[in-house]
Amino acid sequence: MSMREHPKRRHLFSASVLASMALAQGNVASAAESATGPSLGHALTPQQAQRQALNVFPDGRGLPPGRGTAIEGRTLFQQKCAGCHGDAGRGASAEELAGGKAPLTSASPDKTIGLYWPYATTIFDFTRRAMPLNAPGSLTSDEVYALTAYLLFENRVIGEREEMNPITLPRVRMPNRDGFIGVDAKAR
Ligand code: HEC
Repeated sequence: MSMREHPKRRHLFSASVLASMALAQGNVASAAESATGPSLGHALTPQQAQRQALNVFPDGRGLPPGRGTAIEGRTLFQQKCAGCHGDAGRGASAEELAGGKAPLTSASPDKTIGLYWPYATTIFDFTRRAMPLNAPGSLTSDEVYALTAYLLFENRVIGEREEMNPITLPRVRMPNRDGFIGVDAKAR
């Protein structure tokens, strides 16, 4: 079973949702009191905004230069990720990253990367901005390519020696690529 379905996590999530709802209500109240706003923070400079612009799109736009293979990624994963995600991304306390077996059509599907994620580039994007959980933003581009290659390899999507770089990563076809329905919502 994927950790996402774990009842304890659901409980934690709803606690944080309640907390942010309480915050949002507080904000509404103080906005009514002061038309000028709370005077928190400052505008980003264009350079600071650029440093936060980390988006990688399904077609590969936004991928930085760099490269890596699963062989290189394995060592990094053991050092920086296995403590939470388990050996080879199976088990331990955090989300399972590989080894899912129950298909999406089953009663309790495993939503691991190889069974669920439609685009390989999302592994790069998410890992670069959010992982490791205790030090996000600390990985070099080569490290993120290597870790992405390793997770694709452990999910049986690519070979151990296949290099992932800005050209090859967007070309990886994920098994569930066609399992999502696109919705063209118009922004108002
Ligand atoms: C301190 C614990 C911790 C460490 C270390 C850590 N992770 Fe995570 N990771 C988590 C948790 C918790 C989640 C679930 C976060 C969520 O659902 O928002 C997660 C989620 C993920 C996901 C998304 C999984 C999914 O299916 O939604 C990926 C990919 C991932 N981590 C990769 C990595 C990689 C690669 C490393 C090593 C560089 C790493 N993590 C290190 C705790 C950790």
